Amino acid sequence: MDPTDRTVVLTGATDGIGRATAVRLAGRVGHLVLHGLEPRAEVEGFLSGLGGRVTYLPADFGHLDQIAALGAAIGETADRVDLLVNNAGRPGARRRTVTDDGIEATLQTNYLSTVVLSTVLRDRVGRILNIASATHLSERLDLADLGLAVGGYSGVTAYARSKLAIVTYTCWLATRLDGTAAEAVSMHPGVIHSRLLSGMFSIQGDPPEVGARNILHVAGLPGPLNGRYFDESEPARPNPAATDPTIQHDLLDRTAALLTPITIDPR
Ligand SMILES: NC(=O)c1ccc[n+]([C@@H]2O[C@H](COP(=O)([O-])OP(=O)(O)OC[C@H]3O[C@@H](n4cnc5c(N)ncnc54)[C@H](OP(=O)(O)O)[C@@H]3O)[C@@H](O)[C@H]2O)c1
Repeated sequence: MDPTDRTVVLTGATDGIGRATAVRLAGRVGHLVLHGLEPRAEVEGFLSGLGGRVTYLPADFGHLDQIAALGAAIGETADRVDLLVNNAGRPGARRRTVTDDGIEATLQTNYLSTVVLSTVLRDRVGRILNIASATHLSERLDLADLGLAVGGYSGVTAYARSKLAIVTYTCWLATRLDGTAAEAVSMHPGVIHSRLLSGMFSIQGDPPEVGARNILHVAGLPGPLNGRYFDESEPARPNPAATDPTIQHDLLDRTAALLTPITIDPR
């Protein structure tokens, strides 16, 4: 397909890796649908500098109803989504934080947003690219305590587990999508200088353009890639827990329960 006919949806597009990715995509695809946390007026300067057809849709993933509304709004603006990049994410807060939906904030922002948008759009999408993190590799999911209410909370643990949930979900989704035209892929974009990185680690990282380059490399690889995990631009093995069908199904059941208030069943 001619790239200029493609519709790309990118979340977390106003800062860091997402912003650099949006800059690289603008004017090179037919329709670029960008999500950000801020209202349009706050990011108008950035948006007005982008070429091509750009639609901006704000939503705070700390509110489940705003995630669901974003999914609906994307559906209204695009009949077909060639590429969905679930990139938005937040670092784990220093102290355990619960959203108005009663869900640990890192889990909701990073993981549940990915599930909701993937569920709402999976019938019209070509490739779903979920941005995880290599931090997922050294974690395990406590399925009875996904929000770390009982077990020892730390911001880094909350973040890494939200990313393990994303990779596990992506591996499950790949089996769900098997035999369809859609694919689900997850990846670590690199260690990249950003507010998110400095919010958790005292390391510098590469410039955001490196993360954008990795994302667009994986996004542009010929298929089939369904169920694959990439470390930067190379295929890699995910945490073995992510490919365990028992863990996947338990995670999906618990995820469905968390999404009951917005009547979205990801299974
Ligand atoms: N940087 C790294 O080394 C690294 C490594 C592995 C994985 N990643 C992943 O890469 C992705 C991009 O991260 P980054 O490093 O580029 O971080 P970043 O610069 O902090 O960008 C994160 C993006 O997510 C948005 N966001 C944060 N909280 C949100 C919320 N409640 N609702 C909606 N959007 C929200 C941010 O919006 P605002 O700018 O308006 O806050 C921003 O656009 C994340 O998924 C991250 O976990 C990054």
